[in-house]
Parts: sequence; C-alpha cells; structure tokens
Amino acid sequence: MNAPPIVSVADASFRRIFGAEPSLRSFAPGRVEILGNHTDYNEGLVLGVAIDRHTAVVGRCVEGTKATIHAAAFGETDTIELAEPNVDPGPEGRWTRYVLGVHWALRGKFDSPLGFEAVIAGDVPLGAGLSSSASLQASFGLFLNALHGVKIPDDDARLELARRLRKAENGFVGVASGLLDFVTVLFGRPGHAVFLDCRTLEIRRPSLGETPPAIVVLDSRTSRQLADGMYNIRRTECERIVDQFRKIKGTNAIASLRDITPEELSAHWKYLDLVGRTRARHVLLENIRVADGVAALEAGDLEKLGLLMSRSHKSSRSDFGNSSDALDALVAAALTAPGCLGAKLSGAGWAGCVVALVRPGQLDDFVQAAISGYRNETDTEADVTVAYASGCSDS
Ligand code: GLA
Repeated sequence: MNAPPIVSVADASFRRIFGAEPSLRSFAPGRVEILGNHTDYNEGLVLGVAIDRHTAVVGRCVEGTKATIHAAAFGETDTIELAEPNVDPGPEGRWTRYVLGVHWALRGKFDSPLGFEAVIAGDVPLGAGLSSSASLQASFGLFLNALHGVKIPDDDARLELARRLRKAENGFVGVASGLLDFVTVLFGRPGHAVFLDCRTLEIRRPSLGETPPAIVVLDSRTSRQLADGMYNIRRTECERIVDQFRKIKGTNAIASLRDITPEELSAHWKYLDLVGRTRARHVLLENIRVADGVAALEAGDLEKLGLLMSRSHKSSRSDFGNSSDALDALVAAALTAPGCLGAKLSGAGWAGCVVALVRPGQLDDFVQAAISGYRNETDTEADVTVAYASGCSDS
C-alpha cells in the first residue's frame, strides 16, 4: 500500500540527524480490537482492525555491526552493538526495549548482523490501547528483514514474523501478550478487518463493506503501563481454571480455556476458583461473540456487530474486571450518541481507549455528543481519533 504521511516525517528527521537520504522504509499500523478481549492467549478467537496511524522506520545500511537509532517521539538516539551475544533489555517501558527485543528475536534468521542508521517516527497515540508497541515492533521487524534483503512474500511469512514478534514481547520485553496485536498489524488491509483463530492460526480478512463504518477511538485520557502486572495476573487467573479442569477431568489434555465449553464451565461452576471462573466465563462467551461478529460482518450486518461489541464491553466490565469508571463512562457516552453501532474498551483495558463503530453520515454529531457526554460525567475532555482500516508496508 502507499506510504502514509508519517513516513515523510521520518524521512525529514533522518536527513536532519544523519545528513543523508534513507534507502529503506517500512511502516506498520496501530490497531483496535473489535471483539475478542483477552481471548488471544487463551487460544481463542479475535477480530481486530489495523488503523491508519502508523510507526515508520526509515534508514540505511552502514559498515560494521553497530546500529544507531533515533526515536523522534522522545528526541533520543541510542547505539546498539548488534554482534554482542548477550542483549541487555535495559529499562522497562523504554522504546529501546522493544527495538532490542525484535533484534533478539530475529537475529537467528539472518546470517550475520548488518550495521545501520535509522529513525523511528510514529503517529499512533502512545499508551492508549492502540498497540503503539506492536506497531513499532512490526515496523522494526519489517525494516530488519528489508535490511537483510529478506522478503515477506505471503501470509505464511507474515505469520512467522508475527510469532517471532510475540516471542520478543513475551521473552524479552516481559509482557505475556498473545498474537492479536501482531497479526492484526501485519495482516491488516484498507477496508478489511482481521480475524484470527489463535489455536488453529486460521486468519481471514472479512470486508468492512462498501461503506465501512468509521472507527472512532475515544481516549479516556487515563493511562497505564501494559507491564504493570494486571495483565499477567489475568493470565494466571485463566490458567488456574485450566488447571482445575485438568484435575476435574483427570487429564492433561486440556491445553487452554479453548478446551472447555461454556456448558462444562456452568456444570462445574460451584467447584471452581471464585475469581478464575468469572474470567473464564468472559473468555468462553467472548469466543462465541467473535464467531458471531465475523458471521455478521460477512452478512453485511453492522448493527449486529455493534451489538456484540457492546455486550463484549459489559462482559469485560463485570466478568473480566478490566474496565474502569472512565472507560465505562466513555462507553456509556458513545452508546447514547447518534450513529453509534457499538462501543467497547479496546486492548488490555483498565485505562486508555474505547473503540466505537459509527455510521459515517453521523460522524460529526457522534463525536460532539460523545465528548460532551464524557465531559459531563468526568470533567475530562476525551481525545478523539477517527480512523479507517489500513495496513503495513509491503516487503
Ligand atoms: C493487549 C495484548 C493483546 C491482547 C489484548 C486483550 O492488547 O497485547 O495480546 O491480549 O491486550 O485482548
């Protein structure tokens, strides 16, 4: 697809910092989660859309094995010795940790490290639940492949890259996230959503229709760090139920919540861990909502998709416990605004963004009403990003 505007911003920054023209350019989008909240690491189903806000990495190959990387958002430049066998992750939350993680996860793939200079620039809002980190990691992963002359010619190669990026985030950055973010940002396309079955790794790109809804991202202006612990706690709570089912059924053949049906969960409800069982109920019913949502999209039924999103939010709030007063107020404001098909929290939760699908003809009225509804409840001005489906650079 054509390069988004942020690539020119990165180009200009590269010229200023390195006094030369970059010869390699990659970009990858942010994403919203339409359905499938906390289902990915439970081997469930997810439906996301890559959005037209991107992270660009531009640069050129240089002699030696050093990388000099400038992050425009922070005005910081760092140098990495790529031949160093022990990669030190550095401080949590810093941009370098993501970059080093991708280098760490990909280096086995290339014969020997190649030195480079690069600039990273992005317009994906940071820490707002739009996966700015996956966008950075995917863009940097595409850049490293291009630098080494390795093509990503098809969906198999994209999936392989997504898995390596996940490995970087799990094993290096230290966040036990699933495949949702990486698959969505690498497989997204204008006009399409991305469906992923995290067990079979089946991927489909259902069309958003001839008049796609606007994807309105409402930022509650509350933020959190993904690695702050809550995410990993939820993961453990889900695993606890898997463990209990292994004992109940006397078999280790239960690999994840995907091996348990909602009926089985109800049947054993009173014997299960009090917290874990409500988390599991959310995940199992959310899988059904994703399957129904994909069918709705394929039938062109956006009303139904919107309804499923709103149900998903309710379930995140009451069963999964990953909403917040701010996110609930924002969803309530969105749902009463004109043109809203559905709204829910997007991504990890606890803070950050709500995603709403909105009929394009009513976009302005929607935005005004949602902002004033949220302001009346919380005295806070929500930030609004109107987005459409997008994709990453070809390789
Ligand atoms: C974060 C993670 C994803 C996914 C969502 C919740 O965005 O990075 O892998 O688990 O939370 O659905």
